[in-house]
Amino acid sequence: MTSIRPAAGSDIPYFYEICLKTGDAGKDAAALFYDPWILGQYYAAPYLFFPGGLCFAAENEGIPGGYILCAPDTEAFNRWMDTVWLPPLRQRYRQPYPAEKILSYYESNMIMLINRHPGADPLFPWYDEYPAHLHIDLLPEIQGRGTGRTLIETLLASLREQGCPGLHLGVSRRNTGALAFYRKTGFAQLEEHDWGFTLGKRI
Ligand SMILES: CC(C)(COP(=O)(O)OP(=O)(O)OC[C@H]1O[C@@H](n2cnc3c(N)ncnc32)[C@H](O)[C@@H]1OP(=O)(O)O)[C@@H](O)C(=O)NCCC(=O)NCCS
Repeated sequence: MTSIRPAAGSDIPYFYEICLKTGDAGKDAAALFYDPWILGQYYAAPYLFFPGGLCFAAENEGIPGGYILCAPDTEAFNRWMDTVWLPPLRQRYRQPYPAEKILSYYESNMIMLINRHPGADPLFPWYDEYPAHLHIDLLPEIQGRGTGRTLIETLLASLREQGCPGLHLGVSRRNTGALAFYRKTGFAQLEEHDWGFTLGKRI
């Protein structure tokens, strides 16, 4: 039986694991990373610390098996990443990073992401209409049971209460399962990139 609840600090180790096990366009990324924490350092943990972050856990038999993580104000989140969350990580993942500790293109890309400055990113023309962004990941054992849809609806209800007009996300073009899921949950394409798509949904 899967239940949804607001996420707690004690979920963090599970969220790092979920992030890694779904990190290769929805599939297990463990073989691609020397450092098993690096994906969660960027894509999972910060949302639990960002002031105003909206995070929910899907619990399966008492164990967190999935999450939805959201920053309602992406611009504020990017500034906070630049000034609060990423500086200590930029020390740990300082470039040039030892080649023997990089297992794949994906791992070197993560090191680049940590060292760049998202707070300086130009805003997209659609940003005011879709200021929130999200990440959603479920372990394979709880996929396909309606939990993803319930997590999206739970998040939308919270964002609606705050008066947030819309939200966006990035998805790899290789992740055909997630693309089908987002279509079913009412997301539309905002941008196409070489790596995939930015999708958005009005609230
Ligand atoms: C993508 C994901 C969040 C979907 O959650 P889920 O609980 O499996 O999906 P649900 O059971 O709520 O499905 C909702 C709808 O989407 C459809 N859907 C979900 N996954 C699908 C898939 N792989 N292929 C086709 N349709 C799919 C369902 O058929 C359902 O449609 P319906 O309402 O018409 O019956 C989940 O499978 C997951 O975490 N995958 C791995 C990580 C990932 O890819 N995250 C997204 C990164 S951008």
